[in-house]
Amino acid sequence: MRDSLGSRVLKVNHAGENGAVNIYAGQAVVARFTAPSLVTELTEFRSHEESHRQIFWREMQARQTRRCRSYFLCGIGGYILGVVTALLGRSAIAATTVAVERVVLGHLERQLSELREVDQEAVTAIQAIIADERRHHDVSASKLPTDRFWLRLLSPVVASSTEAVIWIGMHV
Ligand SMILES: [Fe+2]
Ligand SMILES: [Fe+2]
Repeated sequence: MRDSLGSRVLKVNHAGENGAVNIYAGQAVVARFTAPSLVTELTEFRSHEESHRQIFWREMQARQTRRCRSYFLCGIGGYILGVVTALLGRSAIAATTVAVERVVLGHLERQLSELREVDQEAVTAIQAIIADERRHHDVSASKLPTDRFWLRLLSPVVASSTEAVIWIGMHV
């Protein structure tokens, strides 16, 4: 039987959080050399993402849902994205966070409105993480220089990769 919408959302979000954990993990390693002032914050963001991943996993276990097929791909892809963007330095790290979290926030809002009448447990899990994601977005947005043209290229690339991963997660 096909999973319910709520269960599919939980699976995709759980895989996405694994991606997020790994983006920040990859960035934190490289930032030691390219942007040392960001390491503490990246490590803190990573621990938020770990607790988000745990929130979705707990709810998945309660309903005996398996991990998304995209789970490991998200992890590896996230790590690579984290390493590559951190090699480009501080601004690229901030731009990546802003792009990823903006896409994520859009999806979370949409999920909430679709699930509101349908799946209260999934709604509760999503609501538990939204404030953190918004803070990750806002803190990074405040660090983003507006004068680097190449950053304007990076953001849509990161945003559309994030969209693609979510789409694949919902459809495979
Ligand atoms: Fe998260
Ligand atoms: Fe986040």
